[in-house]
Amino acid sequence: MYKRLLLPLLFQFDPEQVHHFVCDALRFFYRLPLMPGLMRKLFVYEHPSLVQEVAGLRFRNPVGLAAGFDKNAELVDEMAALGFGYVEIGTVTPRPQPGNDRPRLFRLKADGALINRMGFNNKGAAVAAAKLKARKSDILVGGNIGKNKVTPNEQALDDYIACFHELYEVVDYFVVNVSSPNTPGLRDLQEKEPLMHLLRELQSLNLTKPKAKPIFLKIAPDLNLSQLDDIIDIVKETKIAGVIATNTTIVRKGLETPTEAVEKIGAGGLSGQPLKYRSSEVIRYLCTKSENAFPVIGVGGIASPADALEKIGAGAALIQVYTGFIYEGPGLARRICKALVSAAEPRA
Ligand code: FNR
Repeated sequence: MYKRLLLPLLFQFDPEQVHHFVCDALRFFYRLPLMPGLMRKLFVYEHPSLVQEVAGLRFRNPVGLAAGFDKNAELVDEMAALGFGYVEIGTVTPRPQPGNDRPRLFRLKADGALINRMGFNNKGAAVAAAKLKARKSDILVGGNIGKNKVTPNEQALDDYIACFHELYEVVDYFVVNVSSPNTPGLRDLQEKEPLMHLLRELQSLNLTKPKAKPIFLKIAPDLNLSQLDDIIDIVKETKIAGVIATNTTIVRKGLETPTEAVEKIGAGGLSGQPLKYRSSEVIRYLCTKSENAFPVIGVGGIASPADALEKIGAGAALIQVYTGFIYEGPGLARRICKALVSAAEPRA
């Protein structure tokens, strides 16, 4: 029904407007009497074999909503009712910021993909924290944190620390995002020296807390092998919890969408199907080369149970979806969960 009726209708309109419309509609329906229960009945799939212990946290299932969809933590309860095992909110920055000029979100229908250059539009860490305090569902929440556009890289640490303090009480894990292509210079923080410094400082702050929260690092799919080797060294050395691989790519290769149309869209991060292979490659490399020294959360182009199984086969301890959720609709988390249970069952 979603793919045959709703999607063709929604795809008639501007992608960002559709995003806000759908989120508002979801919040509205969720508040109606009986709706939360009905949604859970339709979309949540529970099974003991889905429960995953990762970084000391207990996930009710391994399928998460990737960062960027619920930037301001306004939909956690709704996403729990749509069957997700956890939600990663953000990227939040210390102060609110509008993000880049519109249009900044584009569909590549022929490729099952999106290009975005949102630029961390968000209401600021304090607003997200207040929303999270008011949530009812007990699924796990990750806080994906970044720096404001106006903050120079030399002061980026202050922004990450400010977000860390603001969200510490209300999230279960943190994600240090240094891999968005849409904040000028941000990806330079993935270089060994600045990254080691950033993560070391954050981790020492974390260890002063009564209960340290797992910190994950989210990386770009466009890093080369030697940069991935650096990432492995840094994770081991700073003893952060693990890596989220991957963010969107700036590469435009092998697309069905005509080159002219892609060029007309311009700068931004590409997500969805065209990213699938590369993100799995990165996950496999990190897991193999590090000898599974830390968990890797796999994200990039998952739109079906087969894609999810492929990511887990590559070594992912948990997975996340964004673009596939747009193209496949609200039943995706449940479908993946069912397939994972079947795959885990011994064959007769
Ligand atoms: C994103 N993504 C993202 N990631 C992040 O760490 N912080 C963010 O704010 C955003 N924002 C964002 C906006 C939009 C519109 C998209 C499509 C994506 C990246 C996202 O979390 C994920 O890593 C990639 O999209 C790859 O996964 P999918 O979309 O192929 O499942």
